[in-house]
Amino acid sequence: MARIKADFLVLGSGIAGLTFAIKTAKAYPDRKVLVLTKTVENESNTRYAQGGVAAVWDLGKDTYNKHVEDTLDAGDGLCRREIVEIVVHEGPERVQEIIDWGARFDKVKDSPAYDLAREGGHSEHRILHYKDLTGWEMQRALVEEAHRYANIEILEHYFALDLITQHHLGRMVIRVTPDIECYGCYALNKKNGEIDTILSRITVVCTGGAGQVYKSTTNPIIATGDGIAMTYRAKGRVENMEFVQFHPTSMYNPAGENPSFLVSEAVRGFGGILKSTEGEEFMHLYDERLSLAPRDIVARAIDSEMKKRGTDCMYLDCRHLDRDKFTAHFPTIFEKCLSLGVDPMKDLIPVVPACHYLCGGILVDEHGRSSIHRLYAAGECSSTGLHGANRLASNSLLEAMVFAHRIFLHTRNKLDQLSYREDVPDWNAEGTTDPKEMVLITQSIKELKEIMSYYVGIVRSNIRLKRALDRLYLLYQETEDLYKTSTISPQLMELRNLITIAYLITRSATHRRESRGLHFTTDYPGQQLFIEYSVL
Ligand code: FAD
Ligand code: SIN
Repeated sequence: MARIKADFLVLGSGIAGLTFAIKTAKAYPDRKVLVLTKTVENESNTRYAQGGVAAVWDLGKDTYNKHVEDTLDAGDGLCRREIVEIVVHEGPERVQEIIDWGARFDKVKDSPAYDLAREGGHSEHRILHYKDLTGWEMQRALVEEAHRYANIEILEHYFALDLITQHHLGRMVIRVTPDIECYGCYALNKKNGEIDTILSRITVVCTGGAGQVYKSTTNPIIATGDGIAMTYRAKGRVENMEFVQFHPTSMYNPAGENPSFLVSEAVRGFGGILKSTEGEEFMHLYDERLSLAPRDIVARAIDSEMKKRGTDCMYLDCRHLDRDKFTAHFPTIFEKCLSLGVDPMKDLIPVVPACHYLCGGILVDEHGRSSIHRLYAAGECSSTGLHGANRLASNSLLEAMVFAHRIFLHTRNKLDQLSYREDVPDWNAEGTTDPKEMVLITQSIKELKEIMSYYVGIVRSNIRLKRALDRLYLLYQETEDLYKTSTISPQLMELRNLITIAYLITRSATHRRESRGLHFTTDYPGQQLFIEYSVL
């Protein structure tokens, strides 16, 4: 049981965590920046991003105002306008920074200009991309840049368990306690099974999304909402959890795979058209922007057509597109289709919606500050107000970079006022033993995913949500009993965290008695005049 100290503790090595770490390490060469990551340093949601990063780049054609309006339009009345303005205006500078750190984006043939793509909900071509591997390329550049700084230490296979607050010093802490402070975290060193106490002056949560709470998701298996669940347990505020984005087009694979393979929205931006099994277009029945309408509309349209027709998937038609251009832009998608016996130039690509992105999360202000002192959050685990009720495609990589930078600016010169809390006790594992039956954990995770997929999916209703809450409560009780008596394992902690996430999504969905953005309920199909954020 080691005790480790770091000036800055960063939970997560995706785009948010590494952007913050690099900037901070560069500004303070004599301060230690410790990054924890629960598997390897380059495994993250970031790594799988395909479409790209949205930024106003070609000021001849595009304007900041258009990007702001597109974001507000997708967000369906719940974006914080001032945050949207900040991200759109500061975004291009952050993109330039990652280019300076070595990230490559595709250029127009024989030209220095970037090849800007278009995705659903965008009124202009403004997506910088690297083939269909944008996230992989950005993650590569970030990891390489981070390795240049001797004062960044990345601890792989370190699983953050709980944030340390006054609660661990014996003080009663409840959600309305005004001065909750974070002193670091307890983390499981997966290599030796020990739980270390990590003390920090400032902690930044960058643990990404929670797609694994659903049966079918584009998110990798690490996306279990740990940071949000930890913050909620520490009595921090979270908001807008009902707004779960389902991507309209994950590849339908009858054999089932986790994660589901994404067929980027950029394919529709490139000219791909959604069709039924009979080869008929259907998007004109739902939105005048057809296949390029915002995601919530397209995902619901596909879901509704599948239910009407009793089919397992709908299709994307790319047969009319130029083969050479298609394979140059989408080599990974092309290869994946071929591996499943689908030739995109000859066959329709079978697609189905899958959970993709969590718009809500840890409530933060314009500096990335959470409701807990000394605790910041950035990236998909945070809720800044940019996305509102629905995220505009390719806005999340941008948001992560902008907020990582803002946290860096805000924590500048704060360190000297903050000391380590040496009196934090070590983790107490007394009275726990190795769980005898891992099946209790794995089966509960399966049950949880079933509950969320059938009762809290794309279309919701009061009765489904009530049923979900009742079932979740049982799972919660069983898991807490197990937790009290079992040695800590990543699987047990992920189950606990996923139950918390499921509860937060379902409870927020129950509170929202209207349909807005990504939250659609058959009991309240319209919108209310009074709009509020769901803060828990
Ligand atoms: P992540 O990149 O997910 O990083 C999370 C990190 O936290 C990981 O290092 C993980 O190991 C670590 N972690 C988690 N829990 C713990 C724990 N308990 N202890 C220690 N470490 C922990 N967005 C766009 O803008 N454009 C796109 O084109 C795009 N395409 C996408 C395609 C796919 C398939 C997916 C899944 C997402 C896509 N997104 C896209 C969304 C975007 O990729 C993510 O929102 C973004 O990358 C999140 O970055 P992050 O830094 O917040 O988290
Ligand atoms: C995609 O490539 O379709 C994903 C883009 C995003 O999630 O922003």
